[in-house]
Amino acid sequence: MPTPTIEQQEITDTFVGGKNLVINAGAGAGKTSTLKMCAAATPKAKGLYIAYNKAIQVEAAASFPQNVTCKTAHALAFAAVGRRFFRRLKAPRMSSYLVAKLLHINEPVRVNDEVILAPQQLARVVMATVTGYTRSATRDIVHHNIAKLAGLDDADTMNALAEVVPPIAVKAWADLTNPNGKLPYSHDCYLKMWTLTNPQLSYDFVLLDEAQDSNPPIVEVFEGQRNTQKVMVGDEAQSIYGWRGAQNAMREFNGTRLTLSQSFRFGEAIAAEANQWLSILDAPLRLRGFELINSRITDLDEPEAILCRTNAEALVQAMSALEKGRQVALVGGGKAIRSLAEAALQLQAGRGCDHPELCGFQTWGMVQDYVRFEESGSDLAPMVNLIDTHGAEKIIDVADQLNREDRAELTLSTAHKAKGREWKRVKIAGDFTEPKPNDDGGRGKIRPDDAMLAYVTVTRAQHVLDRGGLAWVDRYRR
Ligand SMILES: Nc1ncnc2c1ncn2[C@@H]1O[C@H](COP(=O)(O)OP(=O)(O)O)[C@@H](O)[C@H]1O
Ligand SMILES: [Mg+2]
Repeated sequence: MPTPTIEQQEITDTFVGGKNLVINAGAGAGKTSTLKMCAAATPKAKGLYIAYNKAIQVEAAASFPQNVTCKTAHALAFAAVGRRFFRRLKAPRMSSYLVAKLLHINEPVRVNDEVILAPQQLARVVMATVTGYTRSATRDIVHHNIAKLAGLDDADTMNALAEVVPPIAVKAWADLTNPNGKLPYSHDCYLKMWTLTNPQLSYDFVLLDEAQDSNPPIVEVFEGQRNTQKVMVGDEAQSIYGWRGAQNAMREFNGTRLTLSQSFRFGEAIAAEANQWLSILDAPLRLRGFELINSRITDLDEPEAILCRTNAEALVQAMSALEKGRQVALVGGGKAIRSLAEAALQLQAGRGCDHPELCGFQTWGMVQDYVRFEESGSDLAPMVNLIDTHGAEKIIDVADQLNREDRAELTLSTAHKAKGREWKRVKIAGDFTEPKPNDDGGRGKIRPDDAMLAYVTVTRAQHVLDRGGLAWVDRYRR
């Protein structure tokens, strides 16, 4: 274990003193290491480390001191509740047509004089609503917000859905909580069931890592532990998954607040860049660079990784690199892009589709109209345009070449998928656009979500950062 910094020592001392703790940390600032230091300082106490995902859990299990059990929340929930649903997890995929049948949705729903929703469409909204519920802190499904699906998110449709969805969602949840139910099942179902039982975990202390990304039911279980010392650690400025609940949980958690501001990932130049974004966010924290790493901000012709805001931009970058004969990969692989392009093919054949982002549409023409005329369609627009320019088959062909990160000379990633990763030489793609100027010509306002994403993005670099599409931040210097 490395020699603790002053901040890490203070955290360890406070932990040994028995206090609940909430630690706000910067990128690369040794969050997990600090939790290990705490655990090692109280070898007689029995601890639980709640890992954010399986990969982190495996690594933690191998490196935490013996007195700590390392589990993902899903593993805890599986042992307590999920086991009975084992069979359902293996069930084959199911069409929305069948889901509608199982939910006894036999009639279309009239939205207004022009629009009628097919039973399958209603079924998709119901299932998306249930999924949202399983990842929320809402306790009773009747009160959960109805899912907004692309193409089914206009006011008239949402009003019609508000009438019909809640009772069907209740029925769907009744099916999902029954080991012999029939609807498509996911790991989030038993997790939610477990959290609703207010479980008490018998440990002397519980450590919640990456708290800003833990979904709200998990945070609830953590907070609900009585007679247990609790430590949550996270980076408030990296809450890019929109779990507002988790971010607020960090802010409102009743414990001693301490910080980790010494980054071990990069040197001063990149820390300074990160701090520009933290300042725009009005975050309380500023980072210090690692004196043993010499970082630079400069243009890069051959970066190790190019980070993009959207999948569409990653695809454009991929096509350009493939044309030059380079081996490229996309973090997370090309599967998501492939399935979107496959859905496009189905819609182009007028067959409808089950893709979560496109299932609200019956034809490709409807998708094209949606991205052209609806404000909420702007997220989908770049991919739709790419498919229209190159054809869905070509997109599938490119997507299939992006799966081998182990062989890649160039790694592409969206900023979201780059979370938790680091590369020596990082370039930022051009699709992180500057806000439009105000009506009076003054600087536009940078949305907090965009600033957080920018902070995550620039802090992936260890040695050299080419700020590319985020260099405009200099004009907002405070
Ligand atoms: N006090 C320290 N001195 C030197 N290196 C440290 C110290 N604390 C942590 N590190 C190193 O920083 C790196 C990131 O630590 P880690 O705990 O994995 O960070 P995080 O969980 O925030 O991503 C690791 O290589 C770790 O060994
Ligand atoms: Mg960590």
